[in-house]
Amino acid sequence: MIDLHSHILPSLDDGAKDESAARMMLQAAAGSGVDVLVATSHYSRQAEAGYDEVFARIREIAREYGITLLPGMEYDYDRLVEVAPEKLRGIGDSRTILVDLKESYVSSGVAALLFNLGLKGKSILLAHPERLWRENYRSSLAAIPQAAVALQINSGSLLGCYGKTVRRAAWRLLEEFPRCVIADDAHRSSGFHFAECRKKLLAAFDEESVQLWMQINPQRLLRDQSLLVSSPAGTWKQKLRRCWWKNF
Ligand SMILES: [Fe+2]
Repeated sequence: MIDLHSHILPSLDDGAKDESAARMMLQAAAGSGVDVLVATSHYSRQAEAGYDEVFARIREIAREYGITLLPGMEYDYDRLVEVAPEKLRGIGDSRTILVDLKESYVSSGVAALLFNLGLKGKSILLAHPERLWRENYRSSLAAIPQAAVALQINSGSLLGCYGKTVRRAAWRLLEEFPRCVIADDAHRSSGFHFAECRKKLLAAFDEESVQLWMQINPQRLLRDQSLLVSSPAGTWKQKLRRCWWKNF
């Protein structure tokens, strides 16, 4: 599977502390079925300055675990202006930028910035909006230009690692937003949940939708292809299980 969001590069952000922690993360990623992993460190001037050297070192180590490591960066919305658009690191060198809005509201300024980035040939993948849009996901979604934006839902959110309200928002966004991908956003070895998450999703949705979220659309994003629109379906039994799981 393809995991588009991780903090595996040591000493650049709040992810892996050192090389040994990065190795533990690689082992956990491989064990959960990940074979392509994008190293999306949090953007800062220091992280940007040290990125290429650390990435080259960890990419070699990742091969020992059967993992292809790709470059990337996670940008806080309010720091996007610090980087010239042509210097933004796309996810796996694609034209899609991983952006964390950081705020629970969506201002008109955000919409304008996203629109401008879109005009410059970039696409936006919003990082874990379910953690920001816990209560008002419907109105937040309405303010987002859907054609230019895709949502990245955290596997941990779907499993309830951030509480019941975030979990409910994550499941609803998957059902209601047409372009979603799932990623781990792992900061340590315990943060890789793909295998468990896939199992839970398959109990609630059809296999095609799960494949779309976890494999097909991540791959299309890396290839700069437009994401396929999902319309998840489930059997009555699956729907019952889903209701139980959401209200748990
Ligand atoms: Fe992240």
